[in-house]
Amino acid sequence: MFPLQRNRRLRTSEALRSMVRETIITPSDFIVPLFVVEGKGKKEEIASMPGYFRLSLDNLEKEVNELWNMGLKSVLLFVKVDDKLKDNAGTEALNPDGLMQRAIKTVKNACPEMVVMTDVALDPFSSFGHDGIVSGGKILNDDTSAILAEMALSHAKAGADIVAPSDMMDGRIFEMRTLLEDEGYHDTGIMSYSAKYASAFYGPFRDALDSAPVDLKDVPKDKKTYQMDPANRTEAVKETLMDIDEGADIVMVKPGLCYLDIVRDIKNAVDVPVSVYQVSGEYAMIKAASERGWLDHDAVVMEQVTAIKRAGADLIASYFAKDVMHLLG
Ligand code: PBG
Repeated sequence: MFPLQRNRRLRTSEALRSMVRETIITPSDFIVPLFVVEGKGKKEEIASMPGYFRLSLDNLEKEVNELWNMGLKSVLLFVKVDDKLKDNAGTEALNPDGLMQRAIKTVKNACPEMVVMTDVALDPFSSFGHDGIVSGGKILNDDTSAILAEMALSHAKAGADIVAPSDMMDGRIFEMRTLLEDEGYHDTGIMSYSAKYASAFYGPFRDALDSAPVDLKDVPKDKKTYQMDPANRTEAVKETLMDIDEGADIVMVKPGLCYLDIVRDIKNAVDVPVSVYQVSGEYAMIKAASERGWLDHDAVVMEQVTAIKRAGADLIASYFAKDVMHLLG
């Protein structure tokens, strides 16, 4: 009771505030998403993601060494695939000498201790820009899962430590875990995008990989038949518990900031690490507002990643990871 309890007493100096701080950001919190392109010497800035780049393999090698030296321990690889290589079944995704497979080897050669995570989904390889096979205006679930399992195996063979299915097909974690076990990849982890919402915040990412659903008859215009309805909360826990039963080692909520209630629900409901993806649209909003001088970039970035961790994230996939390392000093 006042004045016996004055909450401001513990806020009087930065030293004291730091002693009673509940949430501390560290380099091990982060997963760094990286976009990879074919070619040499390429470092292409993504228009809707200022300060973020698509890298060719030689620059990828430099980047991962830089990240490792900053204390960052994990990368999440995405590839931009030439239109000529795309088809409905994402066949190129299984090419043992494809860009993803070479990217995995490049990172592992350059920096063997770096934890390599890989995106498993058909959309960058799909001529229709969907995460699964399109047929008769629908996305085929089970046929897609079978391909995703092969894709995960192919990444494991190339040296991936953790495969990260971002597609939201039902049952795909079980398919993947079973195939990896059968083939002897017992230690390959699965980070499942278990509660991934049909969000409008993925726009800049789809620019980065040229992977948006195409506007054609009989091709669904959005991903709402597989990604979750942003209005749903209880369902996120159900999705996540099912993925853990099917063999997921790490689960994920995506996007971040708008879904922190979900993050806390899941953190309370599960006994595996929870990751959160602070997505491209969240990055773009902060960059755009701070370019105009409307927000203090560094302060807003730290506040958001802290909020994500406070909500229950054990890991944060973030385009701001390097910025945060500079800010931590
Ligand atoms: C697709 C995938 C998406 C992202 C990661 N994997 C986009 C989508 O579902 O359309 C989005 C990441 C971001 O916006 O930063 N499998």
